[in-house]
Amino acid sequence: MTDSLMNTKEVRSLLDKVAGFDNSNGDERLKRIINRVVEDTFRIIEDFDISPDEFWSAMSYVTRLGQANEVGLLVPGLGIETFLDMRLDQAERKAGLEGGTPRTIEGPLYIAGAPLSKGEARLDDGTEQGEVVFMEGQVRDVDGKPVAGAIVDVWHANTLGGYSFFDPSQPKYNMRRRIETDAQGRYRFRSLLPAGYACPPEGHTQLLLDKLGRHGHRPAHIHFFVSAPGYRKLTTQINIDGDEYLHDDFAFATRDELIPEVRRIEDAAKVHAKGLNAPYAEITFDFVMHAESAAAPKTIVTREHAEAA
Ligand SMILES: [Fe+2]
Repeated sequence: MTDSLMNTKEVRSLLDKVAGFDNSNGDERLKRIINRVVEDTFRIIEDFDISPDEFWSAMSYVTRLGQANEVGLLVPGLGIETFLDMRLDQAERKAGLEGGTPRTIEGPLYIAGAPLSKGEARLDDGTEQGEVVFMEGQVRDVDGKPVAGAIVDVWHANTLGGYSFFDPSQPKYNMRRRIETDAQGRYRFRSLLPAGYACPPEGHTQLLLDKLGRHGHRPAHIHFFVSAPGYRKLTTQINIDGDEYLHDDFAFATRDELIPEVRRIEDAAKVHAKGLNAPYAEITFDFVMHAESAAAPKTIVTREHAEAA
């Protein structure tokens, strides 16, 4: 643009003052970041000839997004949470860390402080009807050594795609548990297969997705944090195979290595032996952890989490 304001003395001076470059107080790194954010905002306004109406409409959107507590939903929808994961993957490759279970996004629906049990747990309270799933596996390191005493922190949606705490109709910590692995690094749990879910259809995230011609669906999945002293915390999910959105996740979290086989058990004797009266599902999934490494950035992410009251 030949009549660009960006390189005029007035705009350069304004940008310098906005970021506090003309004083020696404050945080130098933050000053540089804010300078970039504001300069890029100026450029977007100029390059796209953003009108004041359009600008204030965007500001209202951001305000309402925060008021509705949907920032944590839009961030994965815009691929930014996946980009943070790609950066960690890249840093680990550079540090020579290969072979662990792939990470994927945490998402906005984790609640801290779920009940802790040793070796096994049941995640549902028996009041909801659905397809029972038994999931089990081993936590081990990249050399194949079992990690005893690891904490497998698992959370997932119910059969209607809702998460306890955010869905007040569910019991406290429904479908949320922390399981400590046994001496062989093993964990197992019983639950109900979750359904996929979508952004609230009248919400602010979906409003923007509509304008991008995108849907807001996530395929059915189960979230995990896996942690143990001396090991890099793993944040990941498994997908439930067969979901129509398996490879079309609005949050970009599906990874091929995180789609275990779901075995449907229909044999009457096995069903009976489990105390059930309908076929059930089985999933086996092992988590492979990296030992902590000073050569790669830490994987414990400081992020605000609610705790169920
Ligand atoms: Fe989720």
